Amino acid sequence: MNRIDIPAINSATSVGVTPGYMSGFGNSFETEALPGALPIGRNSPQRCAYGLYAEQISGSPFTAPRDANERSWLYRIRPSVRHSGRFAKRDTGLWRTAPCHEHEIALGQLRWDPQPIPNDPLTFVTGVRTITTAGDAGTQTGMAAHVYVITRSMVDQTFYNADGELLFVLQQGALRFVTEFGVITAEPAEIVVIPRGVKFRVELPSGPARGYLCENYGGAFRLPERGPIGANCLANARDFLTPVAAYEEKDSPTELVVKWGGALWTTTLGHSPLDVVAWHGNYAPYKYDLRRFAAVGSISFDHPDPSIFSVLSAPSETPGTANIDLVIFPERWAVAENTFRPPWYHMNVMSEFMGLIYGAYEARTTGFTPGGISLHNCMLPHGPDHEAFAAASNAELKPVKLAGTLAFMFETRFPQKVTAYAATAPTLQPDYADCWKGLTKRFDPTKP
Ligand SMILES: [Fe+2]
Repeated sequence: MNRIDIPAINSATSVGVTPGYMSGFGNSFETEALPGALPIGRNSPQRCAYGLYAEQISGSPFTAPRDANERSWLYRIRPSVRHSGRFAKRDTGLWRTAPCHEHEIALGQLRWDPQPIPNDPLTFVTGVRTITTAGDAGTQTGMAAHVYVITRSMVDQTFYNADGELLFVLQQGALRFVTEFGVITAEPAEIVVIPRGVKFRVELPSGPARGYLCENYGGAFRLPERGPIGANCLANARDFLTPVAAYEEKDSPTELVVKWGGALWTTTLGHSPLDVVAWHGNYAPYKYDLRRFAAVGSISFDHPDPSIFSVLSAPSETPGTANIDLVIFPERWAVAENTFRPPWYHMNVMSEFMGLIYGAYEARTTGFTPGGISLHNCMLPHGPDHEAFAAASNAELKPVKLAGTLAFMFETRFPQKVTAYAATAPTLQPDYADCWKGLTKRFDPTKP
């Protein structure tokens, strides 16, 4: 008998590269907080280990095409049917849902100063302030753009949103998301996505927090196509992090708040519903650090369309026409020659809700500060203010690092309706459109 010498193989685990998380976007993950809690080779055994209940959560219809099919299997202490009781309506506060026509604001480009963080006790549930709504949550199209201001952790309280997927853009203060799928801790410049129907609570690890929140009524965010860019750059799949399983066994009263049909509903449970001991599947929360975005841009001339900065895209039924795109304007070099380097003047069928996480935005000299908002709705013209135009028209075109800046956009195919809260907020700038007043006539037919 021949003997084959097998060389020693050195192996290393990738688990723990970022402790507590698994790397990848939309993977089929599997994770267990107790050994053997996850059934091997099957989803629904006759009896689950540890006396757990098996349960599936579907984020897409059962028959969705494979590349859009989303579901996870959860192995939990109590099935979710024990997580609901008799629901009563509770105050929705300043959270609004499309269609929302509660206020008509005069047509125009709009901008807001940062929403102040009050001293009042505000949890995530009471700290959401809707700025715009678009589409119709009832037909699972469109979105809402919110600001959250949070001064208290949720205690003995859990929330889930049946109306949409939630995309948090952290601007100030860290957040800790204790979810059914595990724990996500995130800091400003990170985003966190909680799929529709996933239960969680939000805690403050280090004081009050403010940020932006996109509520996606439609199909889930996914990575955009890269086309000729190829297999790398923009947001790379390995930088998306999904938590490992973690559970709490807590048999004390817990409020469950559900957002359903634009209303908030409440019930009291005798236990924590964050009781998933193991899970597997591709429907799970995740986070991503926007500073890991590998930007691609012009190395010759002209300012490309901002779609080169797409981080995530939630598609609609029309190819290339997103229900929502998440676009960022990160640190990068500007090197284009013989080019007006800031964004050009434009009108857009898509509606642009923009926020600033830190630093300054290149097309604005003043008035747009971290935590602020601008809204350039469907077919409303916008572009650099007159100071930015003058500076960029006369700048020496040497390579320039746009450093210490991070802005983002929720861009949707639907017009965005401004809520009464946002339309009457003292932070609304009455003179925003004046920033273009200085763009006077320069035309001279004798000087080509
Ligand atoms: Fe724009």
